[in-house]
Amino acid sequence: MILDNYMGGADAGVPPTTEPARQYYFMERAADLIRKKSEEAGRPLTFCVQTFGCQMNARDSEKLRGILERIGFVKGADESADFVLYNTCTVRENANLKVYGRLGALRRKKRENPNGIIALCGCMMQEKEVVLKLKKSYPFVDLVFGTHNVYQLAELLVRTLESDQMVVDVPDATKGAIVEDLPTDRKYSFKSGVNIMYGCNNFCSYCIVPYVRGRERSRAPEEILGEIRRLAREGVCEVMLLGQNVNSYGKGLDQEIDFARLLSMVAEVPGIERVRFMTSHPKDLSDDLIRVMASYPNICRHLHLPLQSGSTRVLNAMNRRYTKDSYLALTDRIRQAMPDISLTTDLIVGFPGETEEDFEETLDVVRRVEYDSAFTFIYSKRTGTPAAAMENQIPDDVVHKRFSRLLTLVQEIGRERTARFTGQVKDVLVESVNEQNRDLVTGRIMENAVVHFPGSASLIGKIVPVRLDVCRGFYYLGTPEF
Ligand code: SAH
Ligand code: SF4
Ligand code: F3S
Repeated sequence: MILDNYMGGADAGVPPTTEPARQYYFMERAADLIRKKSEEAGRPLTFCVQTFGCQMNARDSEKLRGILERIGFVKGADESADFVLYNTCTVRENANLKVYGRLGALRRKKRENPNGIIALCGCMMQEKEVVLKLKKSYPFVDLVFGTHNVYQLAELLVRTLESDQMVVDVPDATKGAIVEDLPTDRKYSFKSGVNIMYGCNNFCSYCIVPYVRGRERSRAPEEILGEIRRLAREGVCEVMLLGQNVNSYGKGLDQEIDFARLLSMVAEVPGIERVRFMTSHPKDLSDDLIRVMASYPNICRHLHLPLQSGSTRVLNAMNRRYTKDSYLALTDRIRQAMPDISLTTDLIVGFPGETEEDFEETLDVVRRVEYDSAFTFIYSKRTGTPAAAMENQIPDDVVHKRFSRLLTLVQEIGRERTARFTGQVKDVLVESVNEQNRDLVTGRIMENAVVHFPGSASLIGKIVPVRLDVCRGFYYLGTPEF
């Protein structure tokens, strides 16, 4: 679906200097070039955007797809498409390795397709060493851009089509403009991510995100609410507010506003039946936020609250700015206000200097908090971060042993905790037809657990009551109660 709310024209011969008008101008120019190419080829040109990384990247990819559709590309099935774009992540080394591996395979495909264009964008491109490596070892890549000029895709594509060399345009991550109101192609018709802020100021010592995404910038509340009202009018009933740390929303804006206030305003938008948000940093999750969550029935009873480590000593070295005790006190307050809430988390194993005692503190918090689920990560050294220069990097074999102990515990506890709704009837937002069994549909309850139950595609996007009969680990099998 294309959301197009731009009212101006773009027929002048000179590119406008203001945004988003400039990008609409380039979309028309790119459309002309692509039309000619597809006439020559005797078929429409196709595109494929692959997303690596987090929800923020997934949302950027929707914007990129919206622009490509507007230009006249049609969706291709896979990487055999004419225009292949990788929206990359660099949070862990593995993410980078995956991209290089996939690029190797693309090189062969490109030789066979005279219309083939390969483009790379996203967090990994913000690293200078990566761009150098691409220039040296992957010269068949046509276009490289960063996290801050996603909105310029049309302009960059025109430059690429008019050049016979690799076009590289990666603006400094610290100087980000916010340009909205461009076409977007949403993955789901009934739910959508909404950026409320960009960047991160926290500089956790292991993390590369602040370097590649730049400083925190909040969008004005009226813009966010305008976007959500528009989405609601188009039939969206669930929004996920996105930011690296939504709890610091509003800092730096002219008006006095914080995340709790914004969340309550979003929850009051007519038609929005579910509000989620991602991610909350435990250091500044306010009691106001807990109150707002508890008092609006359409704010989902789910909080993703990354712990990273249960050891106060390690947390300190990570620059997380909370302690084991303050984290536990916070989760107690949250559970007191909303006893059924699902808590999920991120955990890192093998941070430099992590001792067996430190690791056991992590296990202890997992046992005490009883997370519904957790993402567990092996510490990955990111060049340029303070932790990369720390002594006492932990040997791989020690880390792997700890990792599998943690995973076992997380799964055991998650399984028990998730089962708490067995036998109850709960509202399920249906998201898709089940891939393994086409007689079932799949959806989520407010608390985020997945439910499969008998139904057909006509239920997609609807919220329906379902009895949760059995819990199989991390999902339920249910029966419709309607
Ligand atoms: N802004 C979010 C997290 C974004 S990155 C937050 O602070 O909650 C998602 C997760 O990746 C982090 O929570 C962390 O657990 C993990 N992560 C980040 N850097 C990492 C690294 N260098 N090695 C391993 N895991 C890392
Ligand atoms: Fe990374 Fe920390 Fe920012 Fe999250 S809060 S993105 S972990 S620096
Ligand atoms: Fe990865 Fe960038 Fe997100 S590094 S986790 S895609 S902000």
